[in-house]
Amino acid sequence: MSEVNFNITTTDKVERYQQFIKQIEPCIKGEKYEVSLFANISAALKEVFDFFWVGFYMVRDNQLVLGPFQGSMACSIIKYGKGVCGTAWKERRTQVVVDVELFPGHIACSSLSRSEIVVPLTVNGEVKAVLDIDSDKLAFFDDIDRVYLEHLTDLITKTIYR
Ligand code: SME
Repeated sequence: MSEVNFNITTTDKVERYQQFIKQIEPCIKGEKYEVSLFANISAALKEVFDFFWVGFYMVRDNQLVLGPFQGSMACSIIKYGKGVCGTAWKERRTQVVVDVELFPGHIACSSLSRSEIVVPLTVNGEVKAVLDIDSDKLAFFDDIDRVYLEHLTDLITKTIYR
């Protein structure tokens, strides 16, 4: 992936996502390797949105294994159906958690994390990985994040899991 000097000219959330995706989309398209793309996407999301924690877990040996991320150290293995990530895998749909303390079985990698969104990357109904983003603020994520992060993960999925 070539370097991107992001030019984000607005504080409006929808427009920020639109500008971000427009600028990163051409770079995603040439990628072939899952780990490299996950690493660069994590870095780009951290740079532009300054998320508290952003990264990927990848399905390996029937469990979620920690992949590239930006933020503090995190748990390396998450089992099917466990935590927010394992639930996104099991239910094969995005989880938007406004307060992690209210999510049954939430796995706290950092005590500072207050809300979270997890988006599964799915091919023909099979989850290959999940994108996990944490915030240190309550109710940080909403439907806008869900829509644009699902669009982003769609672009990623179509590129690397063809
Ligand atoms: N909170 C996640 C675990 C991963 S960390 O947030 C990075 C969960 O409940 O699955």
